[in-house]
Amino acid sequence: MLKHEVVVVGAGLAGQRAALAAREAGRDVAIVSKLHPLRSHSGAAQGGINAALGAEDSVDTHIYDTVKGSDYLGDQDAIEFFCREAGPTVVEMEHFGTVFSRSPDGSLARRAFGGAGFPRTIYAADRTGLALLQGLWERLGIEQFTLYNEWDLMRLVVRDGRVQGLVVFDRIHGIFEEIAAKSVVLATGPAGRIYGRTTNAHTCTGDGIAVAYDAGAFVKDMEFVQFHPTALLESSILITEGARGEGGILKNATGERFMTRYAPHVLELASRDVVSRAIVTEVAEGRGFSGPYGGYVHLELMHLGREKIESRLQEICDFSRHFAGIDPVREPIPVYPAQHYMMGGIGTNIRGATNLAGVFAAGEAACVSIHGANRLGGNSLLETLVFGQQAGKAAAEYAAGAPATQLRAADLEAVETPLRAWSSRPDGEDPARLRTEMQQTMERYAGIYRNEADLFEGLKRIRALRARFERIRVVDASKVYNLNLTDAVEVGHMLELAEIIFVGAYARTESRGAHARTDFPKRDDAKWMRHTMAEKGPEGPRLSYTPVAFTRWEPKERVY
Ligand code: FUM
Repeated sequence: MLKHEVVVVGAGLAGQRAALAAREAGRDVAIVSKLHPLRSHSGAAQGGINAALGAEDSVDTHIYDTVKGSDYLGDQDAIEFFCREAGPTVVEMEHFGTVFSRSPDGSLARRAFGGAGFPRTIYAADRTGLALLQGLWERLGIEQFTLYNEWDLMRLVVRDGRVQGLVVFDRIHGIFEEIAAKSVVLATGPAGRIYGRTTNAHTCTGDGIAVAYDAGAFVKDMEFVQFHPTALLESSILITEGARGEGGILKNATGERFMTRYAPHVLELASRDVVSRAIVTEVAEGRGFSGPYGGYVHLELMHLGREKIESRLQEICDFSRHFAGIDPVREPIPVYPAQHYMMGGIGTNIRGATNLAGVFAAGEAACVSIHGANRLGGNSLLETLVFGQQAGKAAAEYAAGAPATQLRAADLEAVETPLRAWSSRPDGEDPARLRTEMQQTMERYAGIYRNEADLFEGLKRIRALRARFERIRVVDASKVYNLNLTDAVEVGHMLELAEIIFVGAYARTESRGAHARTDFPKRDDAKWMRHTMAEKGPEGPRLSYTPVAFTRWEPKERVY
């Protein structure tokens, strides 16, 4: 049996930052990752990382923008901590070797982003996530910890009131393993592949959230799903908000710059939920373009000129040219909203602690909550680093005082036996088919606009898919790189999270941030200024509610 003091699951920015912090605290650290750290989805983040570093900007303005962006559901104590850490975090990453773009005077270049009172998004062209990931990976130094690469998280073992370790699957050799751990940090990233149209990589299947939920963790605010306004039509590849920050404009099929009607003050730089709803409304009301991949609007960059487009937005130029056959220097980019981020996740405090002793979480898998009902662009990369560090430090402290762990052979068998049985069935449900039906259900019934009838129907369908999942068959029985098996495990995780999204969204009879109910179009602070907590019960998710933390900002109507 393998044994470490701290095990970090996930090797994107949050996981790497947690591992670095735990290692610096003197603990023996291992990282478990289902893909090589440099292929983590953090590398797909394009537009930038927020920090109020400009002379005209202030930390208080960053805090206020984040509180307002969250539609007042973000916990203000956590947001204050988060925004204060922003400047030191960005400077630290620069010292670690991240090469940020520069202004002509040599200072860190900053661009405007949605919902922000000042241009405070620091960037590396439109490859900011990749630049941060490379800088942090080099700082981390592979010799300082053990990397279990291409290993999947299967189960957290929680016994005697605390974590004992985890059961994992080594994809390369097709074997299940136990790792004893005094503390575990879950930094497994997003769950966007629950949806069909998403900017998330195929690996973003919410494994850590689902495994924590199975082990008894509270999962928080899962009904709040962010749709990024500008995903490339057909592929749903992200077209960064930085494109609008640099001056890009949105037009409908009549040639109208329609954001003048939805957000007259800040236009395309309104908060993401506002811009996404505007695009969907334009298309639904017949003012969009239409084509084989559905309705869409145009994102125009041509007026910015070749030099600016090709230097600051290199990646989206490549994506548009290769995946849509469009040259943004000469033509508009066809865009439509796609799922981008989950505001919800494993409930944690500011130090990453969950309700399970010894289990910590950080990054998109976690919900602190700083984003509340809607996240601002540029706050996600920052979140990974600020709370990755916190979780790593806290996990190290916990491990230093924790007694010896106890894993049993039965812990592994309880995972392996049912999964191996999936391959010995003569027939059964195809997990890939279940995944497609789940994605269609989420798109149709839990999208940008929701209502009671749709949510009821969607939940019924997801529950039917979960029942069918009990009878799945994994056709490939081979050991080496059995992606048929790992894909099936991921489908199970996503179905579990899909059910939580529906149950929470059905219960929340108001509209707030990204949760827009056409049957309850107003925000209802008297009833719903509270976080949804979901706990696994025998009949499905059991909901309870916790208060939102307030410090200095009273809820107001949110206008842009
Ligand atoms: O549009 C973007 O570049 C995305 C940034 C973010 O989600 O923070």
